[in-house]
Amino acid sequence: MNNKLCVLAYSGGLDTSVMIPWIKEKYGMDVIAVIVDVGQKEDFEAAMERAEKLGAVEVIKIDARKEFVNDYIFKAIKANGLYEGVYPMGTSLSRPLIASKVVEVAEKKNASTVAHGCTGKGNDQVRFEVSIRSLNPSLRILAPVREWGLSRDEEVKYLEKKGIKIEREKSKFSIDDNLWSRSIEGGELEDPWIEPPEEAFVWSKPVSKAPENPEYITIGFEKGVPVELNGERLDPVNLILKVNELAGSHGFGRIDHMEDRVVGIKSREVYEAPAALTIIRAHQDLEKLVLTRLELEEKRRIEATWAWLVYSGLWFEPLRKAIDAFIDYTQLNVEGEVRIKLFKGEAMVVGRRSPRSLYDEKKATYSSLSRFDQSLANGFIQLWGMSTVRANEVRSGKS
Ligand code: ARG
Repeated sequence: MNNKLCVLAYSGGLDTSVMIPWIKEKYGMDVIAVIVDVGQKEDFEAAMERAEKLGAVEVIKIDARKEFVNDYIFKAIKANGLYEGVYPMGTSLSRPLIASKVVEVAEKKNASTVAHGCTGKGNDQVRFEVSIRSLNPSLRILAPVREWGLSRDEEVKYLEKKGIKIEREKSKFSIDDNLWSRSIEGGELEDPWIEPPEEAFVWSKPVSKAPENPEYITIGFEKGVPVELNGERLDPVNLILKVNELAGSHGFGRIDHMEDRVVGIKSREVYEAPAALTIIRAHQDLEKLVLTRLELEEKRRIEATWAWLVYSGLWFEPLRKAIDAFIDYTQLNVEGEVRIKLFKGEAMVVGRRSPRSLYDEKKATYSSLSRFDQSLANGFIQLWGMSTVRANEVRSGKS
């Protein structure tokens, strides 16, 4: 094992850029920078060039978009994955995947050490480190941001001293984006009373600029995952991008909530996720058509556990896989189409159909065509309410 080699989860941002010369200086290690494409808006070429200039011995870009969709986002759709009921967990889902890529490179290059750029206050450090240790417990993990105590200005100066000019990030916010969601934190958003300014949003239009007419879209599902948009079969990456654009253009997909981090801090979090919210909403609706009441009840309970495991960094917890096995079994029936009306900041489900539908119009109808034998109801009601009626009888003394 090479004790002088460190594989860095490099994002192209300021922190992980500083880390390249810093690890060399402080730990005497060569750095391999690994940048993983999970669909974030990033100038990968510029980022890679910068890593080289900063002294990385090798810079590796890994396109993990397909894997992100097939092995992470699809599981999240099937699990209706929403942390605290609102956040589709784009950031949370990407961390175990990035960690696994970094571990893969470390193993291939025989490196003793890996490094990440997370602070000591957030969830991401937990996600990276639990994932890395689960995959390879012998790797040493460096988290320089937790050690160095540098402000952003000091980081810029540090690089300047090294003869490298790096443009300070123009954004007022701390952004993490990928195919599934865009997380916006920091700056004035840290005051939970202040409305997020329009400039915080990129994927969604303000409702005031949304089209005057509604737009209807149809999403087709097979085995619980989206496969068609408006009758056209699309590869999953394109399907997500397309739904994101359509729903976002109608002003749908913004989230503003108070979030509980794993480390015990409450934080104000703002997200944009037009596709994620539309697809999960459609999926939840279709499930109600094709799953039994008891399947749905149990699934809703277990979904909350699933979201908590993923949010809190326990992607590699065996329970998560066991829950996925249960969910996959239910999803064999989740096939059909959902019709959604996009209009003025909303994405409303207005229709659903499925060859596996459990809805029986002949039973449900109030018209004379009903095939439901109403005489069965009387006995049912007497048995159903028996213990409730008895308890009231006894306790009211009216028996
Ligand atoms: N609170 C979210 C999460 O823990 C988003 C974190 C976003 N990170 C960032 N650098 N802005 O998943």
